[in-house]
Amino acid sequence: MTTASTPGKIILFGEHAVVYGRPALAIPVTQVHADAEILDSDSKGIWIHASGVNLHAELNTLPPDHPIASVIHNFLFLSRQSPSPFGRGVRGEGRFPNLQISITSTIPVASGLGSGAAVTVALVRALAAHLHYPMTDEEVNAFAYDIEKLHHGTPSGIDNTVVTYAKPVYFIKSQPIEIFKVGAPFTILIGDTGISAPTKESVTDVKKLWEADKSKWESVFDRVGEIAKSAREKIETGDWRLLGELMNQNHALLQEMTVSLPELDLLVEAAKNAGALGAKLSGGGRGGNMIALVEQEKAGEVSSALTSAGAKRTLITTIS
Ligand code: PMV
Repeated sequence: MTTASTPGKIILFGEHAVVYGRPALAIPVTQVHADAEILDSDSKGIWIHASGVNLHAELNTLPPDHPIASVIHNFLFLSRQSPSPFGRGVRGEGRFPNLQISITSTIPVASGLGSGAAVTVALVRALAAHLHYPMTDEEVNAFAYDIEKLHHGTPSGIDNTVVTYAKPVYFIKSQPIEIFKVGAPFTILIGDTGISAPTKESVTDVKKLWEADKSKWESVFDRVGEIAKSAREKIETGDWRLLGELMNQNHALLQEMTVSLPELDLLVEAAKNAGALGAKLSGGGRGGNMIALVEQEKAGEVSSALTSAGAKRTLITTIS
């Protein structure tokens, strides 16, 4: 039996502007994860079990663009095409063994916690290990980015990068990844609106705004990029208390991009009123999650305030 586990992620700064080449910061969220388990089997074919989405099916009965099927098809294709750099691979074996693949995930779907990318990465790592086709992190990341592009249009690649490396990442599209240092630990509270919102739609809407007035939106994205850059400096020097104001500024710019919602704004305000140092929506917006920067001793109080303001669940995560 082979298993692989991948954490969720949350974007701290820079969503949407990152699609236009500006930097963004994101961190892994290890309290939630996607897991893949692979067993050799006596039943013919490759059987997929994902109880969370009520899926029990043989690979070839699924449409090829099904999110899980597409990962397996792409992996089989890749492993047949390119020889493993380590010599021993599934290439050339012709037929694949009969497999039972189980996928479970505690990452809420379509809420900005990177569930799709985490399932892809867990599954491809489990396949690679089980079928003796070693893949480097760079290869896993590139593979997962191709899958993200299949399903999400024009993703920046931040989701697959953070969950692949499971490290705090300062991300600029198409550039080598930079892991950022954390000068002093700080605490983030994540509040879920419970509203699932496909990122593709908000990304498309921001693109329409940009197409209608490029110079205006380029300057908005520049401001977001400056915020992300400055946030990295504060985190690296341990001046994390100054991040709150940057979060508030970033949230205002996301509101301008029309990707917030009254439900998100309500949670952001509730967090600040309960003593958070700053708060913003996180990810694609129009639902999903918001984050708040809190002093550790205030986390419980702010979490209760979020629940009273309608959060369906909260998570506390410390970045160190
Ligand atoms: O909704 P999420 O957390 O998957 O984040 C999307 C982030 C965007 O910047 C809006 C899109 C992207 O591809 O970077």
